[in-house]
Amino acid sequence: MKIFNDITALRDNLRSKQAIVFVPTMGNLHAGHLALIKQAKQLADHVVVSIFVNRLQFLPHEDFDHYPRTFENDCKLLTGLNVNTLFAPSEKILFPTKQEFLLALPPVADTLEGEFRPGFFRGVATIVLKLFNIIKPNLAVFGKKDYQQLHIIREMVQQLNLPVEIIAGETVRAPDGLALSSRNQYLNRAQREEACNLYQTLLQIKHEIISGRRDYPVLLEIATKTLVKRGWKVDYIRIQKRSSLTPAHIDDTDLVMLGAAWLDKTRLIDNLEISG
Ligand code: PAJ
Repeated sequence: MKIFNDITALRDNLRSKQAIVFVPTMGNLHAGHLALIKQAKQLADHVVVSIFVNRLQFLPHEDFDHYPRTFENDCKLLTGLNVNTLFAPSEKILFPTKQEFLLALPPVADTLEGEFRPGFFRGVATIVLKLFNIIKPNLAVFGKKDYQQLHIIREMVQQLNLPVEIIAGETVRAPDGLALSSRNQYLNRAQREEACNLYQTLLQIKHEIISGRRDYPVLLEIATKTLVKRGWKVDYIRIQKRSSLTPAHIDDTDLVMLGAAWLDKTRLIDNLEISG
């Protein structure tokens, strides 16, 4: 695996490559990231992974400083998967001057995650666009774990005519159902045991919907109350249309349920697709 932190050397290296598939990450790699990389390897000959903890997508009070950085172990994992190229730039390389050009995003970016983390998707979209411009991938793989992020990146690619195809990867979960996430390591033992109940709650609602219930507001209230009773602070649990991420109506069929909730100081997100 070749490792680059410099843009010019990376571009020189990639110039001769026929088909490039790209997996952007913030490092601290776990089996979820690795599944995306394995999927990427099936899609094109040359796999590029990036590791960059992007300051633009953290609010001032969020965990940018404490976000786990495990570069050496990440490199071992990537080498084990025969990744061709790792791009791991410093902040100085990606932001030699203050990043003042920022994308303006569509209204969907102010809903769900965007409602609770204002500016988050602007930071994500801006860095992903920069990475696309540097790497010029033919394909890029994003996880459904961050469902709204995947949606917004797809919209960006479509509306800005970016020459890249976006591929979705399924969410990788622990045996108890908890979606793997770098932030899971903030959980203590009792919280880690409790954490799977965000997903379990989404699953219960899914069963209700599959068996014919359409009283979404009631179902969402039950879900929220269940979690609150168990000690969670719920930011949101919603049932949306998959195609637009706007609220689902009774006769919509392709749905996704999305949730975000806190266990003490750790915020977890998850989602579940439903064919209603
Ligand atoms: P990060 O949280 O490191 O995630 C990198 C990629 O891994 C994303 O596409 C995310 O959806 C995917 N991923 C995370 N957990 C997963 C899981 N359990 N199963 C499957 N895929 C999973 O998302 C980001 O970084 C950043 O916002 C980034 C796109 C790199 C821009 O900074």
